[in-house]
Amino acid sequence: MTGPRRPDRDPAARGARNDRNNDANDANTETPMHQDSAATGVIGVVGAGTMGIGIAQCLAEAGHRVVAVDPEEAALADAPARLRNGIRLATMFRRAPAAVAMDQALEAVTWTTRLQDLASARFVLDCAPERIPLKEKLFRELDDVCPPEAVFATVTSAIPVNRLAAQTARPGQVIGTHFMNPAPLKDTVEVIRGPRTTDATLDTTLGLLTDLGKKGIVVADAPGFVSNRVLMLTVNEAATVVQQGTADPVAVDRIFQECFGHTMGPLATGDLIGLDTIVDTLYVLLECTGDQRFQPCEKLRQLVADGHLGRKSGQGFHRYPAPVTTVEAMAPPLDERRPSAQPVRAMEKATENGGTSRDAL
Ligand SMILES: NC(=O)c1ccc[n+]([C@@H]2O[C@H](COP(=O)([O-])OP(=O)(O)OC[C@H]3O[C@@H](n4cnc5c(N)ncnc54)[C@H](O)[C@@H]3O)[C@@H](O)[C@H]2O)c1
Repeated sequence: MTGPRRPDRDPAARGARNDRNNDANDANTETPMHQDSAATGVIGVVGAGTMGIGIAQCLAEAGHRVVAVDPEEAALADAPARLRNGIRLATMFRRAPAAVAMDQALEAVTWTTRLQDLASARFVLDCAPERIPLKEKLFRELDDVCPPEAVFATVTSAIPVNRLAAQTARPGQVIGTHFMNPAPLKDTVEVIRGPRTTDATLDTTLGLLTDLGKKGIVVADAPGFVSNRVLMLTVNEAATVVQQGTADPVAVDRIFQECFGHTMGPLATGDLIGLDTIVDTLYVLLECTGDQRFQPCEKLRQLVADGHLGRKSGQGFHRYPAPVTTVEAMAPPLDERRPSAQPVRAMEKATENGGTSRDAL
């Protein structure tokens, strides 16, 4: 799958793109959508939550037409505003300009509750909740609805790709694309090649990622792959440390930031991912490995039961200004704000202002 030339990789396109970018807010500026979108068909995104909106943004800003499906009317009601805010904030913080102007990117995404609207999709990204039965059912339904040549990429945090591929009659066309959060600002994707994923599926997927300005690191299929096999244990242990009274959340995260040089501590990372997603992912790892180390600790389960889901609810291990978009999620927790962190301060100001003004910078 090929896409429009990106200015960061193509000097010829760069001049034109920069010109377009200067006019990004000019209503008369028309940038053609993805030249070969008719040939490649729309791209489907299933689940319009944290990851679905972020990935829809990446696709739309690269010039693709997107159909985003979510069965929850409430999720769809918020989604266009969250997408708009995400585009506005990403414009301030990423290195390369988008391929298309904001209005065109917004128009490129169609929101629907109907999976049947993916009947012409050639590539579908699963961003539905991290629950095995839910995703298995979804893959069976996608297999019925989508054209036989369509590729299915799951953004799952931990479910083995082959388990979802087994629900379809096209196991060779199923692959894992573990985008990081927030997707528009993260350049690298963990790509999971299932045992039956074909070379063509891998090539198509890596091509699409290149088109989005992202790199793929290909790993083999296993519960949690590389990233979450390690990260989920770390978040669970960090929560256990808080549960046992060894340190409070700020101290735990400061240890990782100030002693190990991590950009973000494990508890703030858990808040960014969503503590409900963390618990769901730990249960997936527990089920798929049988390893009791993945049993979510009481503190994590209690926070989720209390509705403290992290960034998306305004409180988790830390407190946040709410509501937040996926990109606003880059702002620091209220209890960890550091005046010296200028880019983060700029994001914070933009967020406090509803992300409406570049003057916030
Ligand atoms: N949050 C992260 O940092 C992160 C990072 C990488 C991967 N992931 C993975 O991405 C996927 C989505 O996570 P998220 O954080 O965006 O979750 P989320 O809870 O923010 O969003 C999930 C969305 O799916 C919708 N949904 C519910 N049932 C559905 C169904 N049957 N079909 C389609 N959509 C349905 C919900 O209404 C919601 O809008 C999960 O597999 C998760 O593990 C999450």
